[in-house]
Parts: sequence; structure tokens; C-alpha cells
Amino acid sequence: MTDVPATDVQATAETSTDSLTVRDNRTGQSYDLAITDNTIKAADLGQIRLGDEGPGLATYDPGFVNTASCRSAVTYIDGEKGILEYRGYPIEQLAEKSNFLEVAYLLIHGTLPSKAEYDSWVHEITYHTFVHENVKSFMEGFRYDAHPMGMLMASVGALSTFYPDARNIHDAENRHLQMVRMIAKMPTLGAWSFRHAQGKPFVYPDNDLSYTANFLSMLFKMSEQKFEADERLVKALDVLFILHADHEQNASTNAVRSVGSTQVDPYSAVAAGVGALFGPLHGGANEAVLRMLRRIGSKSEIPAFIEGVKNGNEKLMGFGHRVYKNYDPRATIIKKACDDVFEVNPLLEIAQELEKIALEDEYFVKRKLYPNVDFYSGLIYEAFQFPPEMFTVLFAIGRTPGWLAQWLELVQDKEQKIARPKQIYTGDRTLDFVPASERWA
Ligand code: SDX
Repeated sequence: MTDVPATDVQATAETSTDSLTVRDNRTGQSYDLAITDNTIKAADLGQIRLGDEGPGLATYDPGFVNTASCRSAVTYIDGEKGILEYRGYPIEQLAEKSNFLEVAYLLIHGTLPSKAEYDSWVHEITYHTFVHENVKSFMEGFRYDAHPMGMLMASVGALSTFYPDARNIHDAENRHLQMVRMIAKMPTLGAWSFRHAQGKPFVYPDNDLSYTANFLSMLFKMSEQKFEADERLVKALDVLFILHADHEQNASTNAVRSVGSTQVDPYSAVAAGVGALFGPLHGGANEAVLRMLRRIGSKSEIPAFIEGVKNGNEKLMGFGHRVYKNYDPRATIIKKACDDVFEVNPLLEIAQELEKIALEDEYFVKRKLYPNVDFYSGLIYEAFQFPPEMFTVLFAIGRTPGWLAQWLELVQDKEQKIARPKQIYTGDRTLDFVPASERWA
């Protein structure tokens, strides 16, 4: 849900301009509803009722297509213009000039760090990358072919059992420690999920390495004494982490906020976010895109595939977005990175041709379907030797600071309450129970 743009409000003379006057035609009564930040409070609809007894009006909004759930200063998106800013800084500038840990600091603290703040932040995260040895045996218990996202979701949740003090969510120092731990340990858990799936021994963190180089070491180090990361890969992956770091109230952030609203510890809340991200309509789309491109197989098969999409047989994965009705600015950056990384790549050529055809086809144009962050990211990940089932793990590592920044905002927001929506009841009422002995006679 993007920030709702302010629009002119035509209100009657005696009411303030920042209000909505609604007339309930069932009763002939009129009501003035205040407009703030281009929204009305759903609670204000509660006064509109048929009689003294009946419930007041509520809103019905499956998937929260037009519902603001919170106030947030973390990320700004303008879906029509394809604008994305973290704490006011355009994503293009952060991707070009910053690094992932600095962006993580910015998202959580709200300002760019001084040198002392940055050095302390990097030091803290570097020295929290290890996990309890029990996590190793816990992860060795998964099936040999367990999906890394399932392992990541379970192991993040399991961390809540190693740090019971994390339940003290009202203590600022404790919150800081847990957030540092989670940012630091996510790559360790992600890499060990990968190594387990590959049947390879776990590699411990190497605190001499930078955050992203250490992640690559835990993924790919074999018998060599010291892992030597390709600096181009480190830089490219660091940029991809930045691009995935936050995205306002997306489905997984909504999950983190909803679970966090019960005042549970942050590990349990983030584990819920990992679960939501796993879905193919959300973070799981990057894996689905690569499988889709492989299935299409050649440019000549694209027209038939597009026809299948238009007939509703399947979706064009990596296309469309709830907020962006223009090109996803992250996709623009990743697509350029693809051009830099690849001389020739048959899947990239299929992706480019697919994009070209889709952007000229009325079905996609009418629905404002453009490539999103997931359309090209999988191609880059594959070029870096990641298997498709690891793509969403990479997304989760990048998104962790954003989830935590949003969780922190939730915990400190006096307006927030436990998430408990209403429903429209469609079932039976007041049935008389018939005991089994009579039902089955
Ligand atoms: C991410 O929210 C975020 O910010 C998410 C994210 C983040 O950083 O956190 O940006 C990351 O999740 C990106 C999205 C990755 N998912 C995919 O690429 C999966 C494919 N995309 C779609 O499933 C879809 O576009 C969504 C889920 C992304 C958005 O769905 P909406 O907003 O609920 O839109 P919709 O399903 O109501 O679609 C509107 C119309 C429908 O057609 P009609 O019923 O009007 O005829 O557009 C069609 C849809 O069928 N449509 C598609 C399509 N996406 C929408 N048709 C074909 N292919 C698609 N990809």
C-alpha cells in the first residue's frame, strides 16, 4: 500500500474541507468524516448504523488493496512514477554509493551513520555471525532435499528459543541486541540451509571478511584455507541486498507487523515474514521466473506462452505489482546489472524478448503489468552459481533489516493495536446439534 496521495476534497460549505460528508440512504442521515493524510479512519464508519442495536459500518478489503495499516517513515514508494526511497534517499543513489550494512543502519536508525556509528555497527554485526552449536544439529535434522526457505523459516523461529530475553521487546537496548543478532545470523542460517541441501559440511563465519564476502565464504568455501571472494560478485550481491532491503507494507512485512502486534519476540515475527516471502506471488517469484524461462526454452516458444497467460492458464511470473503501475525501479537497476554481467545468456535473451512482447501487448498494457524486482534477479543469482531454491533465501537476507525497521516502528507506535480484523460472516446460524448416535443411525 503506497502513501495515499492528497486529493482535493469537495465538501459542503459548513464542513471543513478536510472531511467527507456521507449520506446513509437507509436512514437519510448524513455524517461528516474527517480526512487525514488522504485517508478516513475506518473506526469513524462505526457511527453509521441502521438502528441503535445493529453494528456500525465496517470496510471490506480482501488483501488490503486500499487500506493503510500503519504510519511509517521507513520507505516511500510512488507506484505511478516508479519511485522508491529508503528514509527519503532514492534507491538509485543508495545502490550506487552505499553498502548493505550502511543501508541496514539507515533503515533501522532513520539516519545515515557517522564513521564511529558505522564502525561500531559493523563490528557488532561481524561478531554476532555465529549461532549456537545446537542450530547445527537442528538443521542436520532436515530431509536431504528440504527447501532452504523452509529451513530458514524454521531456524529463524528456533532462534527465539536460544534468546528468550528477546521477549522483552519494550527494552531499547535488548531490541538493538536482537536486531543485530538477526541481521548477523541470517546469512549463516541461509548459507547452512544451502550447504545442507548440497550435502556439504557447514562453514563457520570468517570474521576477517566483510558481511557479503563472509556469506559467500559460508556458501562456497571447500578445502582452501581462506575463501577468496570475487570482488565483482561481492559488490553485485551487496547491491542486490540493498535493492531488497525494504518495500513498505508488502505481504511479508505485513506478516511481521501482524505477528509482532501480539508483542511476541522479533525472531518469531521475522520467521512469519520468511514464511510469507516464500510464496510464489511474493519473494518466491524469483525462483518461479527462472523455472518459467527454462520451461519456455526458446524465443520461438514465447508467443504460445503469452497466449497461455492471456487465457488465464498461468501468470507471467516477475511481472505485475500491487503498487508499481510503472517499471519497478529495482528491476531497472538489476536489468542493467544483467547487461554488465552477461556477454551471452540464452535465458536473458528469452527474458528480454518476453519483456518486449509483453510491454507491447494490450493484455499487459491495460493491466499496467511491468517487470518487478523478481523478473531479472534470478538470472543474476544463477550466474553466481546459486540454484533457484536459494533465490528467495537471498531475498530474505536482504529484507531482514527492513522487516526489523518496520517491527521496531510497530513496537514504538502508540496508535498500533493487536491485529484482529473483522469478517463478513457467510455461514449458518443457530443450528440444533444432532448427536452422532442419531446422525449415524
Ligand atoms: C514482490 O508488495 C511488494 O512490495 C512485493 C515486493 C517486495 O519488494 O516486497 O515488491 C516483492 O513480491 C514482487 C511481486 C512478485 N510476484 C510475481 O511476480 C508473481 C506474478 N505477479 C502477480 O501474481 C501479481 O502481479 C502480484 C501478486 C504481484 C500483484 O497482484 P495484485 O496487485 O493482487 O493484482 P491482481 O492479481 O488483482 O491482478 C490484476 C489483474 C488480474 O487480471 P484481471 O482479473 O483484471 O483480468 O492483472 C492480472 C490478474 O490476473 N495479473 C497478471 C499478472 N499479475 C497480475 N496476469 C498475468 N501475469 C501476471 N504476472
